[in-house]
Amino acid sequence: LGNGGSDRFLYLLAMPAIFAKAPGKIILLGEHAVVYGQPAIAVPVNQVQAKAMVTPNPQNQPGLIILDAPQIHLLADLNGLPSNHPLAAAVRLTLAHIGAAHPPALTIRVTSTIPIAGGLGSGAAVSVAIIRALSDYLGSPLPDDQVSGLAYEVEKIHHTHPSGVDNTVITRAKPVYFQKGLPIEVFDIRTPFTIVIGDTGVAAQTSDVVQDVRCRYESEPEKYARIFNSIGELTCLAYHAITDGENHGLGGMMNANHELLVEMGVSSPELNALVQAARQAGAAGAKLSGAGRGGNMIALVNPEHAETVSAALKTAGAVNTIITTIQTQIGMIE
Ligand code: MEV
Repeated sequence: LGNGGSDRFLYLLAMPAIFAKAPGKIILLGEHAVVYGQPAIAVPVNQVQAKAMVTPNPQNQPGLIILDAPQIHLLADLNGLPSNHPLAAAVRLTLAHIGAAHPPALTIRVTSTIPIAGGLGSGAAVSVAIIRALSDYLGSPLPDDQVSGLAYEVEKIHHTHPSGVDNTVITRAKPVYFQKGLPIEVFDIRTPFTIVIGDTGVAAQTSDVVQDVRCRYESEPEKYARIFNSIGELTCLAYHAITDGENHGLGGMMNANHELLVEMGVSSPELNALVQAARQAGAAGAKLSGAGRGGNMIALVNPEHAETVSAALKTAGAVNTIITTIQTQIGMIE
C-alpha cells in the first residue's frame, strides 16, 4: 500500500452502505414569531423520521451521484437537477463543505415517514439525514453545528426567511429553546409530559404561509409586532415552567398561543376544529404547530387521556394522530 489517493478510492469502493436518520419535530410555542426574533420551543418527534442511505455504485462512472427518493418520484442524476432542488442542494452543499471534488459513484436513497408539508419538519429532516449520511460515507463526519448550518442553507431554498428552528431541533434531536442570533439552548425536561399530534391531512407550504405573514406584518406592523411580542412572552413563560418541572400552566399558555396564531391569520377551519375537539375531550391545552393553514396541531394531555383525545381528533377529521412523550432522554432512533 502507500499509494495515497487510490487506497482511499479502493476503500470507498469496498465501503458498505451507510445510512443516517433524523427525527420530525413539533413547535410547542413560538412559531412565526420566531422568524421575527422571538423565542420558540421545539422538541423532536421520534415516531416519524427521515432516512438517507448512501450505497456505492462501483459499476458507474466515478462522480455519478444518483438521487433516489421514491416518495416524491425522484430518480435522477445529481448533475441533471436544478440548483434550487432541495435534495440536490443538500448533496452539493455537503460535497463542497467537505471538499469532496471527486466523489465516487453513489446512490443516495431518501425515504421518510414524516408527512410532507405537515409542519413536522420533513424538509429539514431530509436535509439532515442526507448531510450526515453523505459526510459519514465520505469519511468526514460533521459536528452538529455544521450539519445544522448546511441544513439551514437548504431551508433557505424552501422558504426565504427561515428562523433556523427546524434544522436546529432536528439536528440536535433534543428539546431546544431557540432564538435567532442567540446561542442554542438545549434544555432538560424536568417533568415529562404527553402530547397528542393531530394531522389535518391538509398540505400547506411553509414558504407560502411565512410569506403571507410577512405581507400582513408589512401592512399592519404594529398589530403584528404586538402579536409576536405576546407570543414571545408566552414562550418565555412556558420555557420557565417546563425547566422548573411546573407543567400545569402549560396548557393555558398553548391555548393563548393558538388564539394569537388565529389572530395572525395562520389557522384554518380544520385546525380550529381539531384544537376544539382536543380541548373538549379533556386536553389541558391545544394549538396548531408549525406554519399552520393545514398540517398538524398538538394537544397537551394527561397520559391516561391520550387515547381518548386521539380518538376525538380522528372523529373530528384528523387523518392521523401520534402520541408522544416529551422528555429529555429521547433514546436512540430505532
Ligand atoms: C416552521 O416549522 C416554523 C415557522 O416559524 C417558520 C420558521 O421558523 O422558519 C413557521
